[in-house]
Amino acid sequence: MYQSEMVSRQSLPDREQREAALAAAGYNVFGLSAADVRTDLLTDSGTGTMSTDQWAALLGGDESYAGSESFERLERAVADILGFDRIVPAHQGRGAEHLLYGALVKEGDIVVANTHFDTTRAHVAEAGGRPVDCPVDGAFDLSAEGPFTGNLDIETARERIEAVGRDRVPAIVVTVTNNSAAGQPVSVANVRRARELADECDARLVIDGCRFAENAWFVRERESEFEGVAIDDIVREQASYADAMVVSGKKDGLANAGGFIGVADRADEDDLFTRLRERAILYEGFYTYGGMAGRDMAAMAVGLREAVEPAYLDHRIGQIRELADLLEARGVPVYRPVGGHAVYLDAGAALPQIPREQFPGQALVCAAYREGGVRAVELGGFAFPGTDRPEFVRLALPRRRYHREQLEHVAETFGAVVERSESVGGFEVVDQPEREALRQFSATLRPVE
Ligand code: F0G
Repeated sequence: MYQSEMVSRQSLPDREQREAALAAAGYNVFGLSAADVRTDLLTDSGTGTMSTDQWAALLGGDESYAGSESFERLERAVADILGFDRIVPAHQGRGAEHLLYGALVKEGDIVVANTHFDTTRAHVAEAGGRPVDCPVDGAFDLSAEGPFTGNLDIETARERIEAVGRDRVPAIVVTVTNNSAAGQPVSVANVRRARELADECDARLVIDGCRFAENAWFVRERESEFEGVAIDDIVREQASYADAMVVSGKKDGLANAGGFIGVADRADEDDLFTRLRERAILYEGFYTYGGMAGRDMAAMAVGLREAVEPAYLDHRIGQIRELADLLEARGVPVYRPVGGHAVYLDAGAALPQIPREQFPGQALVCAAYREGGVRAVELGGFAFPGTDRPEFVRLALPRRRYHREQLEHVAETFGAVVERSESVGGFEVVDQPEREALRQFSATLRPVE
């Protein structure tokens, strides 16, 4: 559905150069130079291609410190698309999380969520709280086929809340789609029940809406109440239950930078909006830019509207499914059903000879880079030490960036690795940062002899 108005040249360094680049990066693909990567599936965050309308808006960006017209445009877009009349802008999603969880959470609190995304978990903990995950059964089961395995397990959440006492639960978080659980969607019915639970406990309901539009696409496909309902109506319905919605504009804002918190009118009790604005001034920038350039706000205002266009979403989810089918046709084990922003591979099944202590996911990621210059990311035993997360490897697809040929190249690359899987060896950590939770980003490794 697109034609190119601008192109950038790509090349594939030869195998020897790739091998050298990988070794120099300490077998951690976060350390690679992007110039040495042919197809970059590290993340779908901020890596998408902007439309000509976004570029046009960008040129008209208003860089005023206070009261920027681009901010007002962004406000109007959020009100139209998500239904929040009040927003607090931030430089990206985690900036918004820092503002929100710092305002809500105090020492000794717990926050329950379907699954906290890494940065959400870190900000809850940083504010003194304990993040508690309550995913539904099957969320991490590679063979579970369910329409909404991203959901919050309401009963487990209630039990965990009762166990600590309601007054220690400031927030219930529902992440749509559930990035940590293979990008699986969350139903509107589940969000309604989370709202009821929040009311019972006098807690805030927070939606992490980074991928609100992709989630709505699945709701229309799978939740009978919403069959034939327009995507933008579903988006507003789902958002209407939240007291606050945290959004990284780098995903369904179709922007390269930025984020915001949408604050509902009902969340006025203890002046949440005012407190968030104050924190924004302290940590992000004035409350009419929050660390974003006016240009970025203008581009995101257009991107939010494009993200709910049905043709765009059909193409977007269609590409993810196409990639999954191409991979599967070449014998690569894929997590089904496929989620909204990425294809998740089962590295444990792809490389069964490598024990968990030797990071089969990282081995698969390194082998794919070596084989075809494809960059993916490990989300298993290496990224989440001390957990029993499956050995996921995530292939996150940037929005509107790659074409069928590149998807074929990715499938051929992983297919070739899996075909010679017995020749792929494991890894051990050489050096890792003090905060083990962040080791995925900066640890260095070496092949096990
Ligand atoms: N919440 C979710 C569900 C996310 O996936 C992310 C980022 C954030 C919050 C933080 O937003 O990056 O703008 O600060 N996810 C990226 C990823 C990094 O690769 O999945 P941010």
